[in-house]
Amino acid sequence: MMKIIVLNMIAVCGLAAGLAAQETRQPEETTAIAIRTSVTAQDYMVVAAHPLAAEVGRNVLANGGTAADAAVAIQMMLNLVEPQSSGIGGGAFALYWDASTQALSSWDGRETAPLAATPDYWIRPDGRPLSWPKAVVGGRAVGVPGTLKLLEVLHAKFGSQGWADLLAPTIATAEQGFAISPRMAASIKGAAEFDLTKYDTSRGYFFDESGAPLAEGSRLRNPKFADTLRALAAQGSGYFYDGPLTDAMLAITRTPDNTGILTRQDFAAYKVIERQPVCALYRVFEVCGMGPPSSGGLTVGQILSLLERFDLAQLGPTPNAFHLIAEASKLSFADRGLYMADSDFVAMPKGLLNRAYLSNRAQLIDPAKAMDRAVAGSPPWDEAQLWAPDTQPEQKGTSHFVVVDAAGNMISMTTTIETGFGSRLMVGGFLLNNELTDFSRAPMRDGKPIANRVEGGKRPRSSMAPTIVLKDGKPVLLTGSPGGSRIIGYVAQSIIAMLDWQMDPQIAVDLGHVVNRNGATDVEEGSEDLAAGLTALGHKVKIRNMNSGLHVIKIDADKLIGAADKRREGVALGQ
Ligand code: GLY
Repeated sequence: MMKIIVLNMIAVCGLAAGLAAQETRQPEETTAIAIRTSVTAQDYMVVAAHPLAAEVGRNVLANGGTAADAAVAIQMMLNLVEPQSSGIGGGAFALYWDASTQALSSWDGRETAPLAATPDYWIRPDGRPLSWPKAVVGGRAVGVPGTLKLLEVLHAKFGSQGWADLLAPTIATAEQGFAISPRMAASIKGAAEFDLTKYDTSRGYFFDESGAPLAEGSRLRNPKFADTLRALAAQGSGYFYDGPLTDAMLAITRTPDNTGILTRQDFAAYKVIERQPVCALYRVFEVCGMGPPSSGGLTVGQILSLLERFDLAQLGPTPNAFHLIAEASKLSFADRGLYMADSDFVAMPKGLLNRAYLSNRAQLIDPAKAMDRAVAGSPPWDEAQLWAPDTQPEQKGTSHFVVVDAAGNMISMTTTIETGFGSRLMVGGFLLNNELTDFSRAPMRDGKPIANRVEGGKRPRSSMAPTIVLKDGKPVLLTGSPGGSRIIGYVAQSIIAMLDWQMDPQIAVDLGHVVNRNGATDVEEGSEDLAAGLTALGHKVKIRNMNSGLHVIKIDADKLIGAADKRREGVALGQ
């Protein structure tokens, strides 16, 4: 039953300063941009955000492992070598294509709010929401992590190699040490002034004895993580969710300020949920993604459906085409803000991907003129009118990887600890997420509840959009990206670039981004040539550094073609 709590309106007003801070802060540091070309393979392929992670995944596949096996090995290594972005202290979503049954499934390993949490979770004693910079650091931001359980579930269902064997390479690397990458070094330096020095364990790990951030190329060992993985190899996830590590995680979340309220019961109750993939028809394709609590699948699906009546192929990557994409995105983000949240707690309109609804709504797009801010549409049901818009943007420490194994199984997985370095709390050699800041901190607006407000046991709305595109019922493209709520735009554009504009995958992922989240039209630095055309069509253009990490595999009849985003340091490896 929906519980409506009326809070003072200053709750919403107090968000403004926090939102500004949230918007100007890059989720993660940008590193050098390299020139790349697509990689082709015949049998199997991995694309992941760090060469060591791609390598362990490739080795698993070379030994006959499945895409699920590779996912376990890749995620553990990412936790070690790209700790700022994802790990077992966070949450993830995965789409899995099972070649033996020719079936697509989607898996929700999202972090979860404490059972005792209430909609005023982020409200201070004076009735205002805690500011975003204060909310993101400390134990209160931490949700029960889901990534480890997700890996365990995928491995049990789709894996063929020994669980312990999949953890072994990361244990060895954690003990021997690895060279800090340029991106990780830049991330540590960037986070130094954003509370990464606040807590002993993370300060001791990411900074040297003089207090300087660890430099690129320096060798870093993580024996605590090796110990954690050894225990997980022997005992499975019980060690994490109902064992000694649970107590250690709970203890560290009791920070002096922004104190957490998680309990052992919250951890013991955690469940990975298999959900129906959300699929939208787009021309001759079916674009399948993650449903609620992610807004990713629905919003990417809406954008593409709204664009179906336009001949993007004929337009090519011109200001006129980007204008149409931006307009479709405005309309979709308006629906996202009003309706989308954890559907186990919030009744959501069934018709968000209804073709008649979207075809009608597409009439609002004027090819010659940008609209102002879009308002949400009315998918046909009444209860939706209870909700108020949530405009809170999200900042992310996130990573995405894709795998195709030799048997044709595939995974597209986006994984996160929310902001870079998550809550900054480190225990057992890994960082704990701050995903509960993906909830709306204000529970109400204009006397109406916000769908994405905090509730006990609820999962915060995500923008993560791991995607598998099908044609004639078979996968033809795997894509996904980190990047906050811009993930949705990055993923939609990558699909249009490869399917409508027939771009080679590397060219598609490296293409300059144009993203609209129902506000200004963000144009990526380096693509300023688009700005004049978009401005002439009425867009308020903002030139921005945009930090995607698109990792894709295109499945052609005779080969796999992979690409890793030039903006990060990932690679595509295969055979
Ligand atoms: N925190 C990343 C996302 O869920 O969108």
